[in-house]
Amino acid sequence: MPADHPSHSGAIADSALLSACRGERPARTPVWFMRQAGRSLPEYRAAREGTTMLESCLDPALAAELTLQPVRRYGVDAAIFYSDIMVPLKLAGVDVEIEPGVGPVLAHPVRSRDDIAALPTLTDEALTPIREAIGRVTTQLPDVPLIGFAGAPFTVASYLVEGRPNRTHPRTHELMHDDPQAWEALLEWVAEVDIAFLRAQVLAGASAVQLFDSWVGELSLVDYLVHVQPASGRVLRALGELGVPRIHFGTGTGHLLVAMRDAGADVMGVGADLTLDAANELLGGRTPLQGNIDLAVLAGSPEAVDAAVAAVLTAGGAAPAHIVNLAHGVPKDTDPDVLAHIVDLVHGAPAAVKGH
Ligand code: CP3
Repeated sequence: MPADHPSHSGAIADSALLSACRGERPARTPVWFMRQAGRSLPEYRAAREGTTMLESCLDPALAAELTLQPVRRYGVDAAIFYSDIMVPLKLAGVDVEIEPGVGPVLAHPVRSRDDIAALPTLTDEALTPIREAIGRVTTQLPDVPLIGFAGAPFTVASYLVEGRPNRTHPRTHELMHDDPQAWEALLEWVAEVDIAFLRAQVLAGASAVQLFDSWVGELSLVDYLVHVQPASGRVLRALGELGVPRIHFGTGTGHLLVAMRDAGADVMGVGADLTLDAANELLGGRTPLQGNIDLAVLAGSPEAVDAAVAAVLTAGGAAPAHIVNLAHGVPKDTDPDVLAHIVDLVHGAPAAVKGH
């Protein structure tokens, strides 16, 4: 890590986000939102006009601007780098696009040993637009930590194998069970790409990372331990060597929470399937938690929002530390004023005393 890295500056090292990642209880509870940049913001829609999703990610000035927009509007405690889990694949040379309203679509799904062997290598040079965008963000935002991210090996592999979004990922499960060696090779390839993508973000100025394993909750614990944890662990350990806190997130992961933490996470992100006090109990009371306001309340009455935020703050009070977030990404029809109100509520609430 370079000596002038932002995480060595007092403002970032002592920020509410990084304090909570270390298991401390800062004066105010930190809050940010997964997918805080995006279609729910009019300024995002205006800035994105005429550019495809992946083009916007590879234009350093635009990616930096889109990263900063939600920080300016909401006063959240972290920026999350505006990019996508498919960006490093694109940079490696995989033929992928993100279709509006659909999601990632591959020209050639990866299904056989030959497909896996033919996957390209991600060079460090290809990551130049990522470093440039991050450099712009940290220069313009010296006092707010920037979270870098990647899609975890299972979730990224599910897009590679299926070729387009699919709710149940049947071909992914088939490959994992019918040809475990090919599966392992595929996950190793994704892990290497992830490590390169995340290292570039951290070395350029990100002060924390989040690994998104959005779809891993559909696996049994045994499948997770045998077929997924080794690759995710490799990514998390490599980032641990850089000394940045690692947040690990998935949805529907109550049965996997301990295994995901043990893969090498410092903070566990929790979805909508369990309350934070239950998650804390599962994790033995020693892991900071992130989450988990139910997305359903965002479209509800102001009273329902207030009650949900209060409940999440109370349940999070059981954990050693708590970073408030939603249970998953911001839905595109969310009223930005509701998110602004949530930030005000969290920042106005007295910080919980440290759990146990
Ligand atoms: O603000 C942020 O959180 C940072 C940016 C971010 C994006 N994607 C931008 C984006 C992050 C962290 C992601 C992660 C991501 N991308 C995940 C993991 C998180 C999760 O939600 O579970 C996944 C599974 C993807 C793949 C992906 N990219 C999907 C499923 C979609 C939605 C397609 C659609 O149109 O419904 C995308 C597109 C995408 N990624 C958008 C944004 C802002 C919308 C693109 C647009 O505006 O047209």
